[in-house]
Amino acid sequence: MLEVAILSGSAFGAAEEVARHAEAQLRAAGLDARHLPDIGLDALLALDPQALLVVTSTTGMGEVPDDLQALLDEIDGWQPDWRGRPVAVIGLGDSNYGENFCAAALQAHALLLKLGMRDVQSQLQLDASETVTPAEDAEPWLARLVANLR
Ligand SMILES: Cc1cc2nc3c(=O)[nH]c(=O)nc-3n(C[C@H](O)[C@H](O)[C@H](O)COP(=O)(O)O)c2cc1C
Repeated sequence: MLEVAILSGSAFGAAEEVARHAEAQLRAAGLDARHLPDIGLDALLALDPQALLVVTSTTGMGEVPDDLQALLDEIDGWQPDWRGRPVAVIGLGDSNYGENFCAAALQAHALLLKLGMRDVQSQLQLDASETVTPAEDAEPWLARLVANLR
C-alpha cells in the first residue's frame, strides 16, 4: 500500500519537475510518496494509494497532456472505489489562455471528486506568466498538504 501517489501530466517538462520536487518534499517530511509518471491504471490499483496528488499542466486549448489523459480515461472508465481518500491538485498554466487557464487541472480534479475522493485543500494554480520557479513556489502549499494528510 502506497501512502501518496503523485501523478503528473506534462507536455514540456515543467509539471514533471514540480512533481519530482513534490515527491522529494513529501518524502523528506516522512511520507511514503512516489512520483509515477506514465503509470497505467492496473499498476496504480496494485499500489493501492491512500491519497493522490495530481500535478498537471494544460496544453493545446485547455487540454490535458497526453501522458495524463490516457490514465484519466482509464479512471473514468473503471471508476475505482477511492471514496473518502484524500486528493490534491496542482495546476500549471498560463493566464494568457483566459478561460482555458489551468483547464486540465480543473478537469482532473473534477473527475477525482466525482469518484468521491476527499478534497484536502484548494487547488494550487501556478501561472507561467507570473513565475519561472513553479517548483519552489509550490513548497508552502505542499507543506500544508503534509499537515493535512497527517
Ligand atoms: C502549445 C501550448 C498550449 C498551452 N495551452 C494552455 C492552456 O490552454 N491553458 C493554460 O492555462 N496554459 C496553457 N499553456 C501553458 C502551459 O500550461 C504552461 O507553460 C506550463 O507551465 C507548461 O508545463 P509543461 O512543461 O509541464 O507542459 C500552453 C502552453 C503551450 C506551449
